[in-house]
Amino acid sequence: MNCKITNSKLDPFMSFGKMPLANGFITKDQFDNEFFFEMNVCFNENLSLLQLGNHPKPEKMFNIDYPFYTSSSRAMIKHFSEYANWIKKNFLHEDSKLIEIGSNDGTLLTNFKSTSVDFLGFEPSETIAKLANDNGIKTINSFFCKKEVDKINKFKGNTDVICASNVICHIPNLPDTIETVDILLSNKGFFIFEEPYLGSMFDKTSYDQIYDEHIFIFSVNSVKKIFNLFDFDLIDVIPQNTHGGSMRYVVARKGKNEIKGSVKKYTEKENKLNYDNIKSCFEFKLNCEESKKKTLDQLNQFKKEKKIICGYAATSKSTTILNYCGINTTVIDFICDTTKQKIGKYSPGMHIPIVSASEFQSRSPDIAYLFAWNHKNEILKKETKFLERGGKWFSHVEI
Ligand code: TYD
Repeated sequence: MNCKITNSKLDPFMSFGKMPLANGFITKDQFDNEFFFEMNVCFNENLSLLQLGNHPKPEKMFNIDYPFYTSSSRAMIKHFSEYANWIKKNFLHEDSKLIEIGSNDGTLLTNFKSTSVDFLGFEPSETIAKLANDNGIKTINSFFCKKEVDKINKFKGNTDVICASNVICHIPNLPDTIETVDILLSNKGFFIFEEPYLGSMFDKTSYDQIYDEHIFIFSVNSVKKIFNLFDFDLIDVIPQNTHGGSMRYVVARKGKNEIKGSVKKYTEKENKLNYDNIKSCFEFKLNCEESKKKTLDQLNQFKKEKKIICGYAATSKSTTILNYCGINTTVIDFICDTTKQKIGKYSPGMHIPIVSASEFQSRSPDIAYLFAWNHKNEILKKETKFLERGGKWFSHVEI
């Protein structure tokens, strides 16, 4: 196994076992032909970078049936509106150009519709790109990569902001992405992206952040080191509450901007906690094993008490939990979800039926495993009746 940035040889420090595609929701007739890969995890100490050893090809994951829609969470719609306003206020002027990488259904870009900013999205999933275009969000149905830049000449060397959310960690050929940013970004432009944060994952033992699409889990140290290799500076970092703890990174061409104190603050904090070296990974591995045991003990206890257990939200993250812990329909009867593309299908690997959100009420489960624990506030607020009738929320992450 080799580092996706430096190509140096890496040895995995842990494996989660055989994993299907995290978003590979399937029908019964597909059970026998399901794709699996060995999901092991490596750490490049030179870059302080946690990454998957093996992973499926991006084309296999982000295909026409890709079922993730950013707008499925109200809290995320609000977050992206605030993110857009922050970008407008701090980095854009009237005739600015802006590109979003992995723009999904246009939840962020829609906030630029009423401005004079010339904006454009890149989205590899055909269905989702079409939806965005139908809604008036100019979207190129493609991966953001060097071979696409000739299609957008006016953006070359002329883009004030290139941004992304929960996308950069999905891209195995990150060097190509950074080189593409280099071609498109203006001399004084900014590359801004936010991703699940390694520190939060280690803190919470939220190992379910690791799945096929999350090739990297970034830290401030790793982002700083990666971008330094390509003549960019990490100039600011701002923690975010989204996805159970994320970090927003602001990157600019080397020497063009003052580097804010936040970068030093977080690199020092990470160094102190050994997040910059493999020691923290060994501890994380032990924590994962303990978390798995605790989860299974608790679920088995619920079963002994004849409780009906369901899953709440068929997230990508749940694919890691269910397959790592070996939880199938003998434990969880169904998973409810609001995404119409998932309803009627079965969860990847463990084949638990996905049902509509309305069945959460009608089937009266006793226990709900909150797979979307990162959307806890939004979900607990709308599901108050569940607690009122004696239901109990459960998660491997503190909720
Ligand atoms: P998210 O944590 O963003 O998923 P992922 O792990 O894939 O990044 O959660 C999105 C999923 O959760 C999506 O399938 C819709 C579902 N969901 C519900 O079913 N109900 C809800 O109230 C919310 C907020 C999400």
